[in-house]
Amino acid sequence: MPPTLSPGEIRDVNTRYHDVAAEHYDSKWGIDFGRVGQEQVIAKLRKALGCEPGHYPRSLEIGAGTGYFTLNMLGAGVIGKATCSDISPGMLQALSENAQALGLQVETRAADAERLPFADASFDLVFGHAVLHHIPDLGRAFAEFARVLAPGGTLVFAGEPSRQGDHLARVPKRFAAMLAPLWRRAIGAGRAVDPQHGGGDAALEGVVDVHAFAPSELSRAARGAGLGEVRVTGEELLANWFGWTNRTLEASAEPDDVPWAWRVYAYRGYLLLQQVDRRLLEPRLPPAIFYNLMIAARKRPT
Ligand SMILES: C[S@@+](CC[C@H](N)C(=O)[O-])C[C@H]1O[C@@H](n2cnc3c(N)ncnc32)[C@H](O)[C@@H]1O
Repeated sequence: MPPTLSPGEIRDVNTRYHDVAAEHYDSKWGIDFGRVGQEQVIAKLRKALGCEPGHYPRSLEIGAGTGYFTLNMLGAGVIGKATCSDISPGMLQALSENAQALGLQVETRAADAERLPFADASFDLVFGHAVLHHIPDLGRAFAEFARVLAPGGTLVFAGEPSRQGDHLARVPKRFAAMLAPLWRRAIGAGRAVDPQHGGGDAALEGVVDVHAFAPSELSRAARGAGLGEVRVTGEELLANWFGWTNRTLEASAEPDDVPWAWRVYAYRGYLLLQQVDRRLLEPRLPPAIFYNLMIAARKRPT
């Protein structure tokens, strides 16, 4: 059981954990800033909104990390003036370097999502990816998102863990842990690595991830902040099970022992199953069983 920490301690651990994670974040998660990355991000926006994204002249990203969403959205021409905030200065440093390498203009601001240093009604789009589950007081954060949104503005958050989806994902993780010795033999890996002793990363993950959500909790947070047109959807089921199986197997071996061909298979297979999820399962099954949840809402026009 992770220790019970105060909200201030959670924010502090989040800052330190992500400052350290920033250096290898893009390679660890296979983040792409080219055509593939742009297509992924636009597809997520489309799914969350239930329609084609519009053009948003002033955008604010919360927990922007190394820029996966904002930089790809700028590249795709969906946003105009982009502001990125994150509690981790290390992440923002990595984001600025990525922006510079891509020749893109972004303003960065170190900030806690619960206390945004921006004027009321100053953005047409407030969004984030994989950040809400790190925030201790969700109600307070949504009140801030609603405050800085202009009337008629759009809110979108994607990549949030679903409680039930997380539960279901334990099945492939367990299955892969049992299969790991056979798998290592098949790929010719030498030593086994105990993922529990894989360094600070694994130990701190239980501390920085403070929520997994039911769809109703996300919609309640948005409505509680006065937002309307709330829509919660689920994404990734098969792709996620496949991804967790492979990550669990890979974590049991030394990184240098995992053949390149395996990594290509894992990446391509994941992309393929994402398509199956998107076309077949997501439109038909309830959001709660998917691994990730997304929410879209609007601030009422005055
Ligand atoms: C899982 S990473 C996601 C990064 C990026 N959005 C992406 O999808 O690649 C979560 C990010 O949220 C940031 N974060 C954590 N707690 C936060 C808080 N209270 N306020 C703002 N950002 C926070 C972290 O520093 C980190 O960059």
